[in-house]
Amino acid sequence: MTSPASTTRVLTGITTSGTPHLGNYVGAIRPAVAASHAAGVESFYFLADYHALIKVQEPARVQRSTLEIAATWLACGLEPDKVWFYRQSDIPEIPELTWLLTCVAGKGILNRAHAYKAAVDKNRADGEDDDAGITAGLFMYPVLMAADILIFNANKVPVGRDQIQHIEMARDFGQRFNHLFGKDYFTLPEVVIEENVATLPGLDGRKMSKSYDNTIPLFAPRNELKKLIASIVTDSRAPGEAKDADGSHVFQLYQAFASADETAAMRQAFADGIGWGDAKQQLFERIDAEVAPLREKYEALMARPAEIEAILRDGAQRLRARYATPFVAELRHAVGLRDLSQQAVEEKKGGGKAALPQFKQYRDKDGRFYFKLVDAEGNVLVQSNGFDSPKDAGGLIAVLKQAEQADAMETPEIVLQVPVDEVLAALAALRESEA
Ligand code: TRP
Repeated sequence: MTSPASTTRVLTGITTSGTPHLGNYVGAIRPAVAASHAAGVESFYFLADYHALIKVQEPARVQRSTLEIAATWLACGLEPDKVWFYRQSDIPEIPELTWLLTCVAGKGILNRAHAYKAAVDKNRADGEDDDAGITAGLFMYPVLMAADILIFNANKVPVGRDQIQHIEMARDFGQRFNHLFGKDYFTLPEVVIEENVATLPGLDGRKMSKSYDNTIPLFAPRNELKKLIASIVTDSRAPGEAKDADGSHVFQLYQAFASADETAAMRQAFADGIGWGDAKQQLFERIDAEVAPLREKYEALMARPAEIEAILRDGAQRLRARYATPFVAELRHAVGLRDLSQQAVEEKKGGGKAALPQFKQYRDKDGRFYFKLVDAEGNVLVQSNGFDSPKDAGGLIAVLKQAEQADAMETPEIVLQVPVDEVLAALAALRESEA
């Protein structure tokens, strides 16, 4: 898993709040696994379980979904030794970065987030208080997501259209941070919209989605898969009547799994009046042909959850060591969360001048010439009386600079503002710096 500068980092997060269905498989899992084999790409796939907590407050369901989704991705061909595969909550640097970003994120921007706005609009429509039932977690969702992306400096984030705004916010927060702390700490991610990936219709013909309760679970057992496919809504054309392929959900589902030749043959069968029962039987056989070998792997994985746990922990551990831990250390330093003992050392080393005492000459309102010795903080250590000329004042400064003992300070032309030892120490530091 090397990452020469030319590789593109592609990052995908999956919220662990449900059971993967055929729509997830066709729309996200299958294309993402295919993309993970591309050259020149460093891929990051993670289980967004912190995000799941925003929606789901049933612990058993969070755990179950995390296991199912991890097993699904592995069964579908994700190779954890070739891509980064991990669980969000195994990377404590992510919530840590979330806070750093929270402190630069504009609240006004978060107010405009679609999911939050939709919840507020619903409350208004229901005559409720604007924020009734809305947690700060929902409000902060985009900041957590920005941390997911920015922590690994992802270049590309493939998402559905509903997530575009979140990527824009990640760019905004990253840019603000870069600007405020004066360096391009974060790569600004680009959104990738998969245009030619099919959106599958669900059992009722609307987009297959958990929120419509019309899904076909990806790894439903064979007989359940068959029953669900049989329940897909169709029109009432009888066998022998020509059917419109493009307007049919059965056909659209078939197309998502079939080759071009198979699709052409099915289109012909529709024109020839294939019965719905036969069409559904063929759809079932076609889906099962692709899914059955994956289902077998899935079931084997689900039977060994400890192995999945170990894979995820291993991924997170390597990823932290490689990127997250050192990067967050750098970011902590950037914002001022620093080792207190370091500051003094650094200032001695680096901007040495600023830490030194200085002689300052000036002319006062009375027209006479003065000087004072001030320390790094601007505290006056020595104050002179007035001289007739700057040259006279400079002469005494030159003498004082050489002073190594208290009696060298004994002249009426100056007044010590601090104990003589402190003045001598300041003069010694000055001499050292000029040597
Ligand atoms: N919000 C994404 C979704 O609901 C899931 C997600 C969380 C994500 N963090 C991410 C996606 C980071 C991409 C990058 O689909």
